[in-house]
Amino acid sequence: MATSFSLSTKAFSTSTPVCSLGVLVSILYISSHALALPQCDFPAIFNFGDSNSDTGAWSATYGQAPPPAGETYFHIPSGRYSDGRLLIDFIAESLGLPNLSAYLDALGSNFTHGANFAAAASTIRPGFSRIPYNVQFYQFTEFQTRSQTIRQQGGVFSKLMPKDDYFSRALYTFDIGQNDLTAGYGANMSTDEVKAYVPDVLDQFGTIIKNIYNQQGGRSFWIHNTGPVGCLPYILDRLLITAAQIDRFGCATPFNKVAQYFNLKLKEAVVKLRKDLPLAAITYVDIYSLRYSLFSHAKKHGFKHPLRACCGHGGKYNFNANVGCGGKITVNGTQILIGKSCKNPSIRVNWDGVHYTEAANKFVFDRIVDGSHSDPPIRLNMACHRENH
Ligand SMILES: *[C@@H]1O[C@H](CO)[C@@H](O)[C@H](O)[C@H]1NC(C)=O
Ligand SMILES: *[C@@H]1O[C@H](CO)[C@@H](O)[C@H](O)[C@H]1NC(C)=O
Ligand SMILES: *[C@@H]1O[C@H](CO)[C@@H](O)[C@H](O)[C@H]1NC(C)=O
Ligand SMILES: *[C@@H]1O[C@H](CO)[C@@H](O)[C@H](O)[C@H]1NC(C)=O
Repeated sequence: MATSFSLSTKAFSTSTPVCSLGVLVSILYISSHALALPQCDFPAIFNFGDSNSDTGAWSATYGQAPPPAGETYFHIPSGRYSDGRLLIDFIAESLGLPNLSAYLDALGSNFTHGANFAAAASTIRPGFSRIPYNVQFYQFTEFQTRSQTIRQQGGVFSKLMPKDDYFSRALYTFDIGQNDLTAGYGANMSTDEVKAYVPDVLDQFGTIIKNIYNQQGGRSFWIHNTGPVGCLPYILDRLLITAAQIDRFGCATPFNKVAQYFNLKLKEAVVKLRKDLPLAAITYVDIYSLRYSLFSHAKKHGFKHPLRACCGHGGKYNFNANVGCGGKITVNGTQILIGKSCKNPSIRVNWDGVHYTEAANKFVFDRIVDGSHSDPPIRLNMACHRENH
């Protein structure tokens, strides 16, 4: 279904003069309104999330992610926990929009085409992180009001702030939840205890989407599910995991099971949101399977050592909680960089023990952009259109 959709959309848009029978048949298979509808013209993106999509909030607040972060693409530290671009960067690029400035970044930011509220370590539930999801929403509310006042001052200000109608026409993107799951484990909870609070986490997640719909007029929502956290060095290395809990690809099963449970409940929450918000187009995007496939079939996809951090220091996973990527030690009064990058981040999955490389992000983006991992299966640039449910 998903494949025939993207193939025939292509055939359609290149406007082949003679419609072959094959094309005709596949067109008939697709919901007819999807084809008739134009591409969405998203003038802005507003993003909410954790470090997986932070483009500078944490760095502006608590200090830059140090080099070699940014080495592949930006060539300087760029507020991102990666060697290069994140999924949100590929999304903006693909929609023809500029790099998304972090709301908290006071220096050099340009918000004409959106703002990023995502911050490292963020959780959906308040009380477990410094810049949680509800705070991101407060910031967004403030941003909507003040950006318009500032814009009216004219001059350069009108070239730094979004237009009024962008708030209803924007794509709202979400990538958050991973830290809510690890927070419970960090507090010594059992897997069952973590699962027990997932519904509460998702209630809070949905409340803010409803607020954006009701207060800011948001209509297009693009929601990433959470990844296989049990395949990441910071989990594999630090928490007590028995050999029996490791799957055949080296990932920690209980953590991945919890992530899957979260995703199941997230999908249910999305179905409910669609009922509650009749004018909203809400796309649920399955990042989990694509990321898991990077761990389970790394070689097939052209990657190596998927469980080892590219940038780090020592141990089975090249990860040391005390000396992170870019970490230095002082020897005889001289600082020496020991949290070094690997030789070739372009064939590596994990960047720093917690986050993904640009190559891994690109792998995932290339497979979500066509809608083949989404529910409903519509392309990124069609995500303003509500499917018939
Ligand atoms: C995003 O930032 C990078 C690095 O500063 C720059 O090379 C690139 O041109 C920017 N992209 C856009 C669309 O502004
Ligand atoms: C901000 O970015 C927009 C879009 O890239 C551009 O048109 C505008 O001139 C920029 N603002 C300033 C002050 O440079
Ligand atoms: C979790 O358990 C460990 C080992 O028993 C203990 O050292 C640690 O303080 C506990 N952490 C919390 C947040 O209760
Ligand atoms: C530090 O200095 C001492 C004394 O000069 C020397 O013996 C030692 O090798 C030095 N260590 C390193 C790692 O350079």
